Amino acid sequence: MDKKSLLQWQMDAGVDEAVGEEPVNHFSIPSPSEGECQGGGQPSSKPHPLPPPSRGGSNSKPLHHSPSAAAAIARQAADGCETLAKLEAAVRGFDGCAIKKTASKTVFADGNPKCTVMVIGEAPGAQEDVQGIPFCGPSGKLLDAMFATIGLTRPENLYISNTVFWRPPGNRQPTPEETAACLPFVEKHIALIAPKLLVLSGGTATTTLLNKDISISKLRGKTYDYTNPYLASPVPVMVTYHPSYLLRSPGQKRLAWADMLMVKDFLSQNQ
Ligand code: URA
Repeated sequence: MDKKSLLQWQMDAGVDEAVGEEPVNHFSIPSPSEGECQGGGQPSSKPHPLPPPSRGGSNSKPLHHSPSAAAAIARQAADGCETLAKLEAAVRGFDGCAIKKTASKTVFADGNPKCTVMVIGEAPGAQEDVQGIPFCGPSGKLLDAMFATIGLTRPENLYISNTVFWRPPGNRQPTPEETAACLPFVEKHIALIAPKLLVLSGGTATTTLLNKDISISKLRGKTYDYTNPYLASPVPVMVTYHPSYLLRSPGQKRLAWADMLMVKDFLSQNQ
């Protein structure tokens, strides 16, 4: 394959930046994600090289498992994780989500596992993919600033993760199949953290976890009961705008500020 076609294939797959100094031929060596497996999950029985390039673009990239099989494997793996360390290892070893193949890093979580508030965002972006830390780019800075105004910080009382653990190519929204494949891990994550309050940041987290396809503007301003198969009792949940949306629509920061005050109010009443 000539270099121009190879570059075109990468662009079709969503590649939009060079990460390393030297080019790496991913067609001749195993993908880095295989080296990440730590045995906690359900790693595939044999290594799977990147699929051969084709003119079909990213749609032609086969999933290693069908979406329902991937979700079932994730469920079985999540069922067996009784500690955060085991869960993280299982996520790193999971090969059922196709975006892992185009991502540089697995982005698991950041903050204090003994938090009061757990925040779930959408998906890692470009900076998160480089650093392996959720919300470490511009939207993360805004997220931190929003919570800092009510006295909450990552080292002390915030814990942050996403609906998927890998950056979707070109920063697109994760597909329902991708969020479904990761959902058992996210559910177990919430149960292991057991926060006083769960905050869903943006539409993808809200749709995925509340299973409601209703706009943030209609859902925000109230506390709901969130439950999943791993929780013995429901966790209170609030929804708010995603910081990337607020960066694009600063006029809505007023509403996000009201949401932060509601979080503060909730915490002061539920010590
Ligand atoms: N946006 C998200 O939803 N999550 C991140 O980690 C970064 C940006």
